[in-house]
Amino acid sequence: MATAAACGACTMAGRRAAAPRAPKKPKQRPAERGGAGPGSTGGSAPGAAPLPPPPPSGRPRPCVRFKCGFTGPVLDVLSRRPGWQQAKDEEEWDFLWCDVSWLRENFDHTYMEEHVRICHFRNHYELSRKNYLVKNLKRFRKQLERDAGKLEAAKCDFFPKTFEMPSEYHLFVEEFRKKPGTTWIMKPVGRSQGKGIFLFRKLKDIVDWKKDGGRTEEQKDETQIETYVAQQYIENPYLIGGRKFDLRVYVLVTSYIPLKAWLYRDGFARFSNTRFTLNSIDDHYVHLTNVAVQKTARDYDPEKGCKWMIQQLRQYLTAKHGAGSVEVLFADMDNIFIKSLQSVQKVIISDKHCFELYGYDILIDWNLKPWLLEVNASPSLIASSQEDYELKCHLLKDTLHIVDMEGRLTGKEKRVGGFDLIWNDGPVSREGNLGTLVNGNFMANTHLGCYNDRKQQLKQLFRTLSAQQTA
Ligand SMILES: Nc1ncnc2c1ncn2[C@@H]1O[C@H](COP(=O)(O)OP(=O)(O)O)[C@@H](O)[C@H]1O
Ligand SMILES: [Mg+2]
Repeated sequence: MATAAACGACTMAGRRAAAPRAPKKPKQRPAERGGAGPGSTGGSAPGAAPLPPPPPSGRPRPCVRFKCGFTGPVLDVLSRRPGWQQAKDEEEWDFLWCDVSWLRENFDHTYMEEHVRICHFRNHYELSRKNYLVKNLKRFRKQLERDAGKLEAAKCDFFPKTFEMPSEYHLFVEEFRKKPGTTWIMKPVGRSQGKGIFLFRKLKDIVDWKKDGGRTEEQKDETQIETYVAQQYIENPYLIGGRKFDLRVYVLVTSYIPLKAWLYRDGFARFSNTRFTLNSIDDHYVHLTNVAVQKTARDYDPEKGCKWMIQQLRQYLTAKHGAGSVEVLFADMDNIFIKSLQSVQKVIISDKHCFELYGYDILIDWNLKPWLLEVNASPSLIASSQEDYELKCHLLKDTLHIVDMEGRLTGKEKRVGGFDLIWNDGPVSREGNLGTLVNGNFMANTHLGCYNDRKQQLKQLFRTLSAQQTA
């Protein structure tokens, strides 16, 4: 294992995180053994020396060494951050932005000092795999019904009926037969960008899938069938200009125990290029709103793209339906973020070295009800246009401000740049509302789709923080 070469500006002493070594055989993951229990790996190798005390808060960290497995906005933002330096291949690092596959190979074998941060939780898949997400939500719903009653449990009814395939095939068939003629969607649990998805209305299509359609090329020679979910297809999506869209919203979690979650003000709607119809269920350009799918359409115009900023959508909906209905819609979305995170709170290994920037996929139906389609632990951070590039760079910069390797924050902030703190071991009240109740209503600290004056806010925040430090 190599140690860090001397860094001119760096005054931090001692070990950070060992550079990933040649991967050893990874330990079996908790969920593969049938569900992870609560607790923390601590990230330390067995027998490692006790961790040194954390740096006194408020003392700036003069040099941060980062590793990054990506190009594009992530690498651009990390490289341009003042005082940050990219660690070379074998060098130790303080901060890692990696792909989830890195975790499987290396996490359990990597020693991490107190201050080290990494952009995924060890068992992120409890939320980001489509079958585990639903399993956790169903369990959480049952628990809520037991502990708090039916009304509270009904607040979890934001995901379409879903069955794991082939393990829940018989349950699925039972449900399928109750409503003949409805449309279902089959999605492989471990893939993304619309890959492997198809819609169906007849059981025969599933029988064909079971025969061989459910196998990837690599699995064709094996008897193994790839796991899918069969999910009720939302047949009445909200349409704008006759086109379907879904939303991508960003939520940052910095701790699961206690749960601390931040919601980003910006996000976007991803439109299909083709008018919506239920007559052609085989046409992916109609039904799948992934940019990766839409940009392969013959009439796709890269100049125009297929996105709307969420602010534009919020304005459009407000003009059409009034502010009250739109507030309810956005409050329902907040409920989705919080309930889904709570559903895995006791399952995710809440390691203090980890944070996660989730990309939520939400579909709105024509009753203005939002549905959760999936949660991505590795949302696409490449840019499809200049506007998209800027959004992602700002999102990443603000994520780094909150992760706060530099040690500038007090930990009491409710807003940092474009992020608003929506949950801090409980709901967070809006900045300035000391009494938390306005006209008898709790004013939640959420501003999704509102004006994102992040630059001014950051200027003000860091000015106040440095004034406090000098005082
Ligand atoms: N239950 C559903 N009802 C309607 N449309 C859906 C449903 N599930 C997925 N879709 C459409 O398919 C797209 C891809 O589905 P998603 O679950 O996000 O998988 P992927 O990981 O491939 O992105 C979504 O963006 C949405 O447009
Ligand atoms: Mg998706």
